[in-house]
Amino acid sequence: MQQRRVWVLALILMLWSGLAGWGLTQAQNAAAQNLVAQAEVGTVDVVPQSLQLAQEVYLEQCSSCHVALPAETFPSQTWQQLLVDQNHYGVTLPRLINPELGLTWKYLQAYSRPQSPDDQIPFRFRQSKTFRILHPRVEFSEPVTVDTCASCHPAASQFNFRQLTPEWDDAP
Ligand code: HEC
Ligand code: HEC
Repeated sequence: MQQRRVWVLALILMLWSGLAGWGLTQAQNAAAQNLVAQAEVGTVDVVPQSLQLAQEVYLEQCSSCHVALPAETFPSQTWQQLLVDQNHYGVTLPRLINPELGLTWKYLQAYSRPQSPDDQIPFRFRQSKTFRILHPRVEFSEPVTVDTCASCHPAASQFNFRQLTPEWDDAP
């Protein structure tokens, strides 16, 4: 009788430690996946799961003619106006409708900040304060356009603005 009880106890212990071990592996896997996801982030902020679809839709809508622009380079008001304007810097965009319109705005709004309503809304990088703030070391000599980002951000076409060309990477 006594021996049987010990066996049952041992069995319970074995099962329990097995389960705990399995739980740990799952947690480790999740942590590893998280790290991988973070390692690939090339813009200012990590994209949480709740915004991933919105980011995909933004990239789909806004990266066919030029590199997708990081949301934080303009105030929210700029994006708000651009998304509902088919006249786009001399070209005509297809009208953006829901759900794409809502999702694109959700993404751009989440990663940009509203500016004071008294300030003029910038539509060019050279007028954008946040763009300048993101570039403390850079004195732009040439006009910055959607085509010049890649000269310093070699992975701009992959929406990575953290990677820099060696001359900027080495500088203090
Ligand atoms: C049909 C092609 C096309 C698509 C699609 C497109 N753009 Fe553009 N975009 C342009 C052109 C052309 C320019 C002007 C380039 C220039 O003059 O240097 C431009 C310029 C811009 C600029 C101004 C940057 C600057 O300072 O010169 C912003 C901001 C911008 N686009 C945002 C967007 C957003 C947001 C979307 C998605 C809704 C989008 N674009 C989709 C063609 C496009
Ligand atoms: C002349 C080189 C140069 C050009 C052109 C340039 N950048 Fe940058 N960018 C930099 C450097 C260098 C940094 C790092 C901040 C610093 O040292 O000033 C940076 C930082 C950034 C950041 C912040 C990245 C982060 O998360 O830390 C963003 C976003 C960005 N640039 C977007 C753009 C966009 C969009 C364009 C094109 C319209 C552009 N840049 C054009 C040199 C450049």
